[in-house]
Amino acid sequence: MEYSEKVMDHFMNPRNVGEMEDPSGIGTVGNAQCGDIMRVFLKIEDGIIIDATFKTFGCGAAVATSSVVTEMVKGKTVEEAMTITNKAVVEALDDLPAAKKHCSVLAEEALQSALWDYAQKNGITIEGLEEPKETAHEH
Ligand code: FES
Repeated sequence: MEYSEKVMDHFMNPRNVGEMEDPSGIGTVGNAQCGDIMRVFLKIEDGIIIDATFKTFGCGAAVATSSVVTEMVKGKTVEEAMTITNKAVVEALDDLPAAKKHCSVLAEEALQSALWDYAQKNGITIEGLEEPKETAHEH
């Protein structure tokens, strides 16, 4: 299994690590199979994501995908962030091994979950955004 230089870079030097004070939205997701957990924090002002951080308890690829996704969303509008799919995350990392593709799905889900949280807190609807499963079943 080969990792790209970008994956290794984001794994060794993850960007935007840590919790955020007073975030506009938090998204926590997990993968039941591998047990990895990812949490994304967003700060949104006037519909623009001005800051993003993450905490990931998981594999190296999960760290890399959450690191790169926080970089990708910064400066984007909420609508633009909605177009960031796991495929886009994989491309930004110059590919992931097939066995690690699900780690990028976690990054997409964490982002969408944080956007959902933001929308809920502000009573707004984001076009195309559906309630994340994890939120629905959170205790
Ligand atoms: Fe599950 Fe990477 S092994 S997120």
